[in-house]
Amino acid sequence: MHPPGRRPTGPAELSPPMSTAEPLRLPSALRARVATARRVVAFTGAGISQESGLATFRGGGESLWERFRPEELATPQAFHAHPRRVWGWYAWRHRAADAAEPNPGHRALARMAAVFPFFTLVTQNVDGLHQRAGSPEVLELHGTLTRAHCGRCGAARPMASALAESAEEPPPCPCGGRFRPAVVWFGEPLPGGVLERAVAESSRCDLFLAVGTSATVYPAAGLIEVARGAGAAVIEVNPEASALASLADLCVPRPAGHALPALLEAMERCRKPAS
Ligand code: OAD
Repeated sequence: MHPPGRRPTGPAELSPPMSTAEPLRLPSALRARVATARRVVAFTGAGISQESGLATFRGGGESLWERFRPEELATPQAFHAHPRRVWGWYAWRHRAADAAEPNPGHRALARMAAVFPFFTLVTQNVDGLHQRAGSPEVLELHGTLTRAHCGRCGAARPMASALAESAEEPPPCPCGGRFRPAVVWFGEPLPGGVLERAVAESSRCDLFLAVGTSATVYPAAGLIEVARGAGAAVIEVNPEASALASLADLCVPRPAGHALPALLEAMERCRKPAS
């Protein structure tokens, strides 16, 4: 893991808006890229769900990894040693995600899929809010809270049904194993094929958006480097600079729920055929 970085002076930066409705004007070089882009990747992190009321992992005082220790809750060893504690923590997070609603940032990304010929949404989030906002396909790098699977035989079921059976401890599987949340824990490989597809799309995209991520957890954060290395224009949306903000052509230092609807409008303007 890399420590979060300070905001660099490299990329262009837009001033924060005085009102949420303030439109976003892209620099001309980016307007040209947006106008012709065929392949676009949006890569999201916990920050996009912050305005839906879900805590981020880092920063802000009330974040998850300031309140809890990841090694006690988000590793296979922790689940083995303290299954009730880990199951209970994910039951709590599942309830919070279930009660949350997608915000204008999620909805703008769902609409963005229709603006470009090829649009890939890659998320580190496990809350299911992109799908509920209507995004047609989501590459979930860190799995999902919405399902559970058996740690022994792999049998899958909705998390809601596993929790209805047993909210206190992981329910048993008929094979003799027990169910666990279908998330990726530290030290585990990312879901088969998902990282490969995300890397493939990032390495051939024209435009890459990094939204609401501290860009500190690898291999996910490496997608930004892959895209930049392959020549994509990179736009970061984050009120604070991420660890990889220096790779961005443009940093939009606004909350995603304000920035993404404005970015979508700006993109749609760029894509309109000249009359
Ligand atoms: P982090 O919590 O590390 O970073 C959240 C980012 O969102 C920060 O850079 C904030 O500045 C930014 N942010 C906060 N509010 C925002 C808003 N309204 N709009 C836009 N940005 C906002 O979350 P991730 O980068 O997603 O992994 O964390 C990556 C991984 O670390 C997670 O998937 C999780 C965690 O440990 C696992 O559990 C395996």
